[in-house]
Amino acid sequence: MITQESRFDIVMRRTATILSVVIITFGLIAASTGILLSIYYEAASGRAYQSLKMITEEIQYGWLFRKAHHIAGNGIIVAALIQIVVMFLGRKFTKTWYTAWVSGIFLTLAVIGLSWTSMILGWDQVGFWRFNIELGTIEAIPFVGQQLREILTGGSGVSTLTVQRLYTIHSYILSTAAIVLSVVHLVSVLWVEKQVSSPKELVQGVGASVAES
Ligand code: HEM
Repeated sequence: MITQESRFDIVMRRTATILSVVIITFGLIAASTGILLSIYYEAASGRAYQSLKMITEEIQYGWLFRKAHHIAGNGIIVAALIQIVVMFLGRKFTKTWYTAWVSGIFLTLAVIGLSWTSMILGWDQVGFWRFNIELGTIEAIPFVGQQLREILTGGSGVSTLTVQRLYTIHSYILSTAAIVLSVVHLVSVLWVEKQVSSPKELVQGVGASVAES
């Protein structure tokens, strides 16, 4: 049976495709500017703030790369959240959209994690105190709270070890996950586009009617 797509469905599907291209573009910009920042960034409690200040004020185009990382890093979160809403409104709850849903949800979680881990990377007053408050919340999680706090802080209070750990999670683990997931998401959405534009049923249907005539 050939399922007829409504105009709204087509618009939602195209929007999802465009957004997945936007997501991967932001992801690549964030990853490449992040690598450029890492050349001068120093993941240490006493040096993080100073090194970012130096990148902004003294390094040629440093301010541009920091701004681009900020825009792309926050842009990917906004785009990933809109994507979830678009897929929800478009009622994309079929098997064809399964990979797009799974990759989209994990991608959103990864980019939220990237934003969260960046909180302490700047080692400024707002980030420091916000992180301390959030550590209290993490500590209150039953059974695993204490261990999680120790893993994140590196034992005692918020120190160089904490910055290093969050920098590792941010720059290696979560950024790699975000890039891989945005590629999987784009490929799965493009695959849906291909399925819809050349549905098997249509080909079979045409074949059958030709054979009948
Ligand atoms: C998909 C990849 C990535 C995403 C989405 C991402 C996202 C973010 C976000 C949202 C921020 C906060 C920026 C702000 O609000 O000002 C940030 C900060 C930062 N990121 Fe990334 N990041 C990525 C990859 C990387 C990589 C690969 C590195 C280093 C090798 C890196 C290093 C940093 C540093 C040093 C900061 C602190 C900069 C600052 O406070 O201005 N990031 N990142």
